[in-house]
Amino acid sequence: MCADQAPPPHDASRRRAIEIFLGGGILASLASFLYPVLRYFVPPAVVDLGGDEVVAAKAGDLKPNSGKIFRFGSHPGLLILGSDGAYRALSATCTHLGCTVQYRSDLREIWCACHNGIYDLNGRNVSGPPPRPLTVFDVHERGDEIVVSRKREA
Ligand code: FES
Repeated sequence: MCADQAPPPHDASRRRAIEIFLGGGILASLASFLYPVLRYFVPPAVVDLGGDEVVAAKAGDLKPNSGKIFRFGSHPGLLILGSDGAYRALSATCTHLGCTVQYRSDLREIWCACHNGIYDLNGRNVSGPPPRPLTVFDVHERGDEIVVSRKREA
């Protein structure tokens, strides 16, 4: 066999098949690394299915001076029954970086554990990094249900 002789046709097709196989593997690996990164930077559109009103609790679910996280559409809400017996409902999404806040019965304030942000019971940001107050919702008692709704613009 001479050195300048072309390889037999089945060697060329095997080489081509190996190149396609390796190229496909590299492309699949790249796609598996890049897809999560792309989804992180371009998150899917959030669809708010909750409407303007939700039953956040039943009467008697909360003791005075306690709070409860409830789902309001695709976001968390915070329902508080104060020591005075009045319900308050606010968005539970911290205005700093979006952590979920909680009611601290020992402080009688709303607290964000992520960076020690504090809001008062009216949702005003009083300490820490949160730049804005929490959104306040309306609360109604309807029978034995505690109904939370978005405030209507006047
Ligand atoms: S996310 Fe709440 S204080 Fe930073």
